[in-house]
Amino acid sequence: MVRLIISADGADQFESWKKAFLEVSPDLDVCSWYEASVKPGEADYALVWTPEEDHFEQLSFVKGILCVGAGVDHLLRTPQFPRHVPLVRMGGAQTAELMADYITWAAIGLLRDARTWAVQQAGHIWSYNGVARTSGETRIGVMGLGHLGSHVAAHLGRIGFQVSGWRRSTGLLAGVDVFSGKAALPDFLKKSDILVNLLPSTAETRGLITYSFLSALPQGAGFINVGRGDHVVQADLVRALDEGMISGAVLDVVTPDPLPPTSSLWSHPRITVTPHVASVASRNMQARYVAETIAQMERGEQPPLLYDPEKGY
Ligand code: NDP
Ligand code: OXD
Repeated sequence: MVRLIISADGADQFESWKKAFLEVSPDLDVCSWYEASVKPGEADYALVWTPEEDHFEQLSFVKGILCVGAGVDHLLRTPQFPRHVPLVRMGGAQTAELMADYITWAAIGLLRDARTWAVQQAGHIWSYNGVARTSGETRIGVMGLGHLGSHVAAHLGRIGFQVSGWRRSTGLLAGVDVFSGKAALPDFLKKSDILVNLLPSTAETRGLITYSFLSALPQGAGFINVGRGDHVVQADLVRALDEGMISGAVLDVVTPDPLPPTSSLWSHPRITVTPHVASVASRNMQARYVAETIAQMERGEQPPLLYDPEKGY
């Protein structure tokens, strides 16, 4: 029987994981990392999110590490993280569908200036702010066309947005105007009335979104960040918003994450903040994906969302 040792989301959450695995994959031997008698070995898999410092040594013995997040940048930033162990990111259909729903909500909200409605409602103000622009009249650019971005781009296209996308490779995507590599970035940005960031945080992408980057967008563009807070120079974004260069931003990821109560981003009239909730699949869906990934690895197959150290994501 294959064993999965779980530390993800802390000791308190183990029972909810156990219940989910019992429903979706009763053959898997599931145990808690926090049980004193459990010693991870070379036939075991580990399920993690933010391992504690004293977990790393034992993680270096396991056969595979599965992360409950799609982004693994926090793990790789930790020097003790065992780089020789295969690392697989969270995936599954529900993760992509939830992300597409969130981006749809955020994009329509930017299009209709829903942030102004929220501010007016908080102040009990009835003031007309109709915006006569449809999704079909709006160009939306998705940075990152991987597991999530490719699904999001296709979904936005079905709704009627004019969709383009930016990626490293030259892979095409039906219905999406694809721009590849750094050289194509200015042309991609020029066509993005709303820009969606769905990039992973890597040495190449951190700090990418600066004032000058934002100034390459059409005047009054909207911005949605669901990638990572560290993609953005936050002071530059606020400046671009204050100057009207960017008309609104929806931020699910910020720096620091979680955002402290004292941050001025909370009350900015052009910013909507959500608490890193864009795409968190249900326990059962996460468990199903993890069980399928382990089955693939046991068959000697390479899971599609295996972290690639060469690419950095
Ligand atoms: P993938 O690895 O599947 O896709 C990454 C995409 O980014 C690929 O299309 C890749 O290009 C592109 N990319 C990477 N580096 C560059 C670069 N330097 N220049 C241009 N394009 C680049 O990741 P996912 O879609 O699974 O997830 C993306 C990110 O979304 C995660 O890393 C995480 O940070 C964030 N996330 C946020 C969540 C939230 O709730 N807010 C939830 C889940 C994820 P190519 O196709 O050529 O390889
Ligand atoms: C993430 C996630 O990587 O929530 O942000 O999956």
